[in-house]
Amino acid sequence: MKYPATLLFMFCAASLSAETLHVATPASSLVLDATPGQKLSLVHYGTPVSDADIAGLGSGLDTYPAYGINPEREAALSITHADGSMSTDLVVKSTAKSTDADGAEILTVTLADTFYPVEVDVNYRTYPGENIIETWSEIRNNEKGAITLSRFMSASLPVRMGDVWLSSLYGSWANEAKVEERPLTHGVTMIKNKDGVRNSHTAHAEVMLSLDGKPRENTGRVIGAALEYPGNYKIMIDTDDSDYHRLFAGINEENSAYTLKKGESFATPPLALTYSNEGLSGASRNFHRWGRKHRLHAGDTPRKILLNSWEGVYFDIDEPTMDGMMADIAYMGGELFVMDDGWFGVKYPRATDNAALGDWTVDTRKLPNGINSLLDAAERHGVKFGIWIEPEMTNTVSELYDKHPEYVIKAPNRKPTTGRGGTQLVLDMANPKVQDLVFEVVDTLMRKYPRIDYIKWDANAPIMDHGSQYLTADRQSHLYIDFHRGLIKTLERIREAHPDVTIQACASGGGRANWGILPWFDEFWTSDNNDALQRIYMQWGTSYFFPAIAMASHISAAPNHQTFRSIPVKFRADVAMSGRLGLELQPKNMTEEERDICRRAIADYKNVRHIVQFGDIYRLLSPYDGKGAASLMYITPEKDDAVFFWWKTETFMNQQLPRIPMAGLDPDATYIVTELNRIDNEPLPFEGKAFSGRFLMDRGLDMPLTHKVDYHKNTDYSSRVLRLTRQ
Ligand code: GLA
Repeated sequence: MKYPATLLFMFCAASLSAETLHVATPASSLVLDATPGQKLSLVHYGTPVSDADIAGLGSGLDTYPAYGINPEREAALSITHADGSMSTDLVVKSTAKSTDADGAEILTVTLADTFYPVEVDVNYRTYPGENIIETWSEIRNNEKGAITLSRFMSASLPVRMGDVWLSSLYGSWANEAKVEERPLTHGVTMIKNKDGVRNSHTAHAEVMLSLDGKPRENTGRVIGAALEYPGNYKIMIDTDDSDYHRLFAGINEENSAYTLKKGESFATPPLALTYSNEGLSGASRNFHRWGRKHRLHAGDTPRKILLNSWEGVYFDIDEPTMDGMMADIAYMGGELFVMDDGWFGVKYPRATDNAALGDWTVDTRKLPNGINSLLDAAERHGVKFGIWIEPEMTNTVSELYDKHPEYVIKAPNRKPTTGRGGTQLVLDMANPKVQDLVFEVVDTLMRKYPRIDYIKWDANAPIMDHGSQYLTADRQSHLYIDFHRGLIKTLERIREAHPDVTIQACASGGGRANWGILPWFDEFWTSDNNDALQRIYMQWGTSYFFPAIAMASHISAAPNHQTFRSIPVKFRADVAMSGRLGLELQPKNMTEEERDICRRAIADYKNVRHIVQFGDIYRLLSPYDGKGAASLMYITPEKDDAVFFWWKTETFMNQQLPRIPMAGLDPDATYIVTELNRIDNEPLPFEGKAFSGRFLMDRGLDMPLTHKVDYHKNTDYSSRVLRLTRQ
């Protein structure tokens, strides 16, 4: 049963007590008992409920537990009060509602300590038509002196025990966003990050909880939770002797105790919650739709098809090479060329990765006619131009570091620890002077070269020393949090001044895939690993929480530069086309046939770009299931156009692959099937034929094991991209 969003914040009267709050989205309900003087308790989160259902629900569980009374249970908040007491006892004081600039409605329940003048707002935000509830807290210190927060979770959510499974993403550099599934058992499951700068290389700050046993893509009840924060985080699921798993999510408090002076407050980042009874894919669709509309920068603008220079030429940048690459991407139908690392450095040239970060002035030894000449060339070729920077970083070998050694993060009394190239250092974004500097890097570039259309903003180092040269001795534990506050403040300024430039969040590959940073970025670099086979696994996991429009996916060279695997260009294109399509190679080194396949893939992608970038995802067969193939599809919200992707993930003689029923189509509509990126000598048997949505979803189409090509062109790879257009 679906309820309109207008039911939101219904203060249930009549049969219900005036303190029952119902936060409703079109397909979910969150019910709170906010009786003044009592704990704020969560009575229900999940399927939509009616007044009658609510009346019969009974009491709930403390949903923002504070440390101090009955301290054996995990807490969302822990405070040392001005008088040294570590006990906090929060009860409901009042309730208010408001609407923000985005049209979202916010319900705020204010909790107050029963003795100390400390207040905590627990907020719930919903957006018209979206199945997302964001929740976060704000802690206010009205005590006479300073208080210290030693835990400050965004939220805690009790989830009824049963057969609950956790799906989370883990990984490493060049192996990001791998899916891991496990049943929740007793004890604490913790997912955390302590990189300081980036937070999605290893574990991710998002999880799915499947409530009906082993996770399934298109059936079953799922709760999804995504912490919107780019820094250190902690997601903790505590399963004790009660009937509930308790999910806690927030900023990682380790080494980050935060002091609030009298009158100061602390806002935690939002945790975005979703509920779906349409499996993992249903929860993903909720995140994608809401994210494109309300979080992702320019989430309604189609992304351009680009060529990035990195794997094509690495640091060997010069004008004729850049010009040639622009000509090549223009010839293949691309729309944007991005000059990656290596273009800057005057006193210290950026010949390799050990110098010049911070010195964002063009190296005229490589580019004697400067950036404007490249912009002219781009215009001549009919493509836009983009550029790489890494503004939060410097090298010990740089003019910036010579001038401002006090800008870097380092511990007192110690030499700074260096990263990439043996010389890389992180700038202290807690320092307002550094914030100005980083703002000016982008601002100067954009003012000098307003034709720049795209910026790749990289971040290739973690915080390697705990120490801020800016923060006072008693505020050193604020470093991790103030770094990100400074970064976000700077990004806000940049976006105010330059709203139209496309900015990619790159962080040694996929280190910055998080909803907490995407309001200022148009996309993220998914991984430094462009191997198409491994990308199927990484992109599968990434798609749990992030839409294809934000997931940059490039066709790279063969053999691949990371795995050294040789994959035919057809397969590479078919994988890259399921995200934001780009290329990352030296087109000069491609054969004419490869260039032709890319040209056709780009042309085909242009026709289905709106489906991939704005459509609803239905994941069908997971590569992690080990069935020899993987498949997913995107469908327009109107269900009139779809793209079906199928990739063979293993090759054995006479292997038997499952036929894959589709999903998400209109059962009563008829769809015509057309193969895209076709390389076979003859069409598939169902080419141009019409099928009902019901047939495609109940049965599906058989994909041949191999391609029908001339004998010498056979390879061990096979993939298909089908467009399904409603008749
Ligand atoms: C990082 C990025 C790459 C590339 C290099 C340049 O590793 O992830 O894509 O931009 O930096 O140095």
